Amino acid sequence: MALSAEPQTIGGVDHGPAKGASKLALESRLVIPASGFEPAPEVPMPNIFPLEWEVKTEELAALYEKSKVQAWNPATLPWDDLDPSQYTAEERLGIMYWYAVLANFDGSGPAVFGRAMIHSYEVHAEDPLRKCFFSVTRDEMNHEECCQRAIAKVMPGGPLRFEVKTALDRAALNNIQWLYHNGGRYWRGYSNSIDKYPLSVLFTSFLMGEVAASTLFYGMAHKTTSPVFKQVFTRVGQDESRHLAICIKMLENDWPRLNQAHKDLITRQLRAGFVFLSMILWEPPNLFWELPNYFIPNHRVLMDAARQAGLGVLSYDEQAENWRIAIARVKKVVEDWGIKFPAIPELDISGVDVSNITAADIIPVF
Ligand SMILES: [Fe+2]
Ligand SMILES: [Fe+2]
Repeated sequence: MALSAEPQTIGGVDHGPAKGASKLALESRLVIPASGFEPAPEVPMPNIFPLEWEVKTEELAALYEKSKVQAWNPATLPWDDLDPSQYTAEERLGIMYWYAVLANFDGSGPAVFGRAMIHSYEVHAEDPLRKCFFSVTRDEMNHEECCQRAIAKVMPGGPLRFEVKTALDRAALNNIQWLYHNGGRYWRGYSNSIDKYPLSVLFTSFLMGEVAASTLFYGMAHKTTSPVFKQVFTRVGQDESRHLAICIKMLENDWPRLNQAHKDLITRQLRAGFVFLSMILWEPPNLFWELPNYFIPNHRVLMDAARQAGLGVLSYDEQAENWRIAIARVKKVVEDWGIKFPAIPELDISGVDVSNITAADIIPVF
């Protein structure tokens, strides 16, 4: 644009004289010490925000964009088609129980990934990675909302304050209370670990959770006889596959920098992932979980009630097979990176012996 003495107006606002003149006028008002500007103090680390948007991994930026395109709203799913009167009281309890078990994982998702997102800002991770964590936090809030809506529909007051009338109700409530107790123990371990480990170690734990989640929801979307739950599982499964892709991309970048101590820690984390996630994918082994000895027999009864309702819960053997396939995928990925896989004797998977998993070892989320 040619310089002009006329005042420049944009959208009716007077922006003063033309560019050249404006620059001179502004510079004449500056205060510049004879010795030059003083450098600002170094920003101490960890510091909550990097004040720049560095993009190192275009694929992560693309995954974040995909999360926006695939956005969905749990509130607009056809919940009204889910008629509680089509189920028996036992089936309604079974659906509520399965969702309560899931909520024990999904309920922690927003806080766990929110915490990880803050951490990614503190360590000045690249911009697309910070954004990906934000999108996972957003997704997990939707997944938690699905638990909330499904339970509200079939069992108002659930999972902890529904009207308890029968022995089956009492058994369900007691099992859910025990699960909740264990969920609280998991948070402390996770929260203490986040500053201790590099992001890639955390991501390997997440990898196990995302593989588990995408496998679970894919299987249930195929098996459920309810059109509403089919939509829910399909949407959630799509999100979980994207979370998995984020984890794998991040780890592809990072694994060459892992030292042997980190690799050993990852081996341990993978075993912890199996122990923790088996509660929702299959049945929990006798490690970490503090449960009364009647928990599993009652859990089986309640899972049968959910199956009977057509929720899409796989059989015990189908669950074991699904879990085995999912774990084989993770095993292949991490072994390609020179990380040893733990033995999973419960599923006849050989590897490094890792025993004694405690609450402090549990990082994996869903
Ligand atoms: Fe999720
Ligand atoms: Fe996820």
